Amino acid sequence: MKVDPFLVEHFMNKYEHHVELNLAETCVNPFTLEEFLTLMDREDFFDEFKKKQLTYGYIEGSPELRKGIANQYKTMKEGNILVCGGAIGANFLTFYSLVEPGDTVISILPSYQQLYSTARSFGANVKLLKLKWEDQWLPDLKELVKLVDDKTKLIVMNNPHNPTGSLIDESLLKRICQVAEDAGAYLLSDETYYGLFYDEKDRVPSAVDIYNKAIATGSFSKGLSLTGLRLGWIAASKQIIKECMDHRDYTTISNGMIDDALAAIAMKNLDRIYERNLKLLKTNLEILSAWVENEPLVDWIPPKAASVAFLKQHTNLSSEELCVKLINEKNTFLVPGECFEMEGYIRMGFGNKTEVLKEGLERFKEFLDQFR
Ligand SMILES: Cc1ncc(COP(=O)(O)O)c(C=O)c1O
Repeated sequence: MKVDPFLVEHFMNKYEHHVELNLAETCVNPFTLEEFLTLMDREDFFDEFKKKQLTYGYIEGSPELRKGIANQYKTMKEGNILVCGGAIGANFLTFYSLVEPGDTVISILPSYQQLYSTARSFGANVKLLKLKWEDQWLPDLKELVKLVDDKTKLIVMNNPHNPTGSLIDESLLKRICQVAEDAGAYLLSDETYYGLFYDEKDRVPSAVDIYNKAIATGSFSKGLSLTGLRLGWIAASKQIIKECMDHRDYTTISNGMIDDALAAIAMKNLDRIYERNLKLLKTNLEILSAWVENEPLVDWIPPKAASVAFLKQHTNLSSEELCVKLINEKNTFLVPGECFEMEGYIRMGFGNKTEVLKEGLERFKEFLDQFR
C-alpha cells in the first residue's frame, strides 16, 4: 500500500535529537518519572508494581484507566473508551475501522498530516477544507457544506488545532456536528491538545458529548506530559467502539501494563497536572507574545489554546531554508510550514522549559537580524 511521506515526522526525526534548543516540540515539558511520581504522591509505585507478573494486561485498557478517561466526558462511560498506542494509534484505528475505498473523507488543512493522508492511503477520496488566516484559522462552514457529497463517510477536524492553536468554540462545534449529521457522516475530532485552555472560559465540550456519530481521540502526550508512555484513546459510542475493537484485534493485543498503570494514576490527578502545565504555558505564551509584538519579520494569529503557534515569516527565504539555516547557525529548531503544505509559515511549540524558550527566541531574533 502506498502512503504519502509524513513530512513533519521526517523533518522532526532528522533534527530533533541533535539540536540544542528545540522550539519545535509540541508536548508540554514531559515529566521525568521521578517528578511525575512525586507530584502524584506515588513514590512507592515501583515497590508495589515489581511484584506483578508482566503479562498481556487488559485488551481495551484497564477498567481503572478507562473509567478515569471516561470521567473527562459528560456522556462517556468505561465501555465507550478504547486505549490505544498514542493518539496516532487512535486516529489510525479510526480510519482503519471506518474508511473504505471510494468513500469521501473531508479533512482540514493545515493539520497533522495523519488526518488526511491515512484516509487517502485507504483509497478514500479526500477533500481538503482549507483553513485561512483571515478566518482566524477556523473552518468556514459554507465551504464545509460545499465539500459534502452523497459519499461522505467521515469529516475530520482537530480541536484545539495543531499547528495554529486555534480553537473551535461550542457554537461552531455544534454547527459542524450538524453538518456531519445532515450528511449522515461520522465526525473524527482529534482532541490531542484537549485541556490546554489558557482561559477556563474558553473550555469547549468534546465533540462526543454533542454528536452520537462523533469519535474523539485523546492523548497522554501533549497536555498530560506523559509522552513516553505512548498512550492515547478513542472515545465514542459503543457501536463505534465495537467496530474499532474488531479491527484492533489485528494490530494490538494490549498496551504495556506499566504504561497503563501510570496512566491510570495520572487520570486520578488531572488537576495537579493541568495546574503545572497551564502555569508553564501561560508564562511562556506571555514571553512569546511580547517577542512577536517586537519582531517585524514575524506575524501571527495568537493561539487560543494548545502549545503551538503558527508564525508567518517575512524573510526572503522559504520556510524550510529558514529552519535549516537556523539549525545550522543557531542550533535552534522550528518546523517549516512546508511540512503542513503551508509555505511562508513556521510552527513553534512553546510548552518546553521557559529557559529554553527564552534562549531560543533570543537566538532566533539574532538570526533574523541578517534580514533587516
Ligand atoms: C493533532 C495531533 N494528533 C495526534 C498526534 C499524535 O500524538 P500521540 O503522541 O498521542 O501519538 C499529534 C502529535 O503531534 C498531533 O499533533
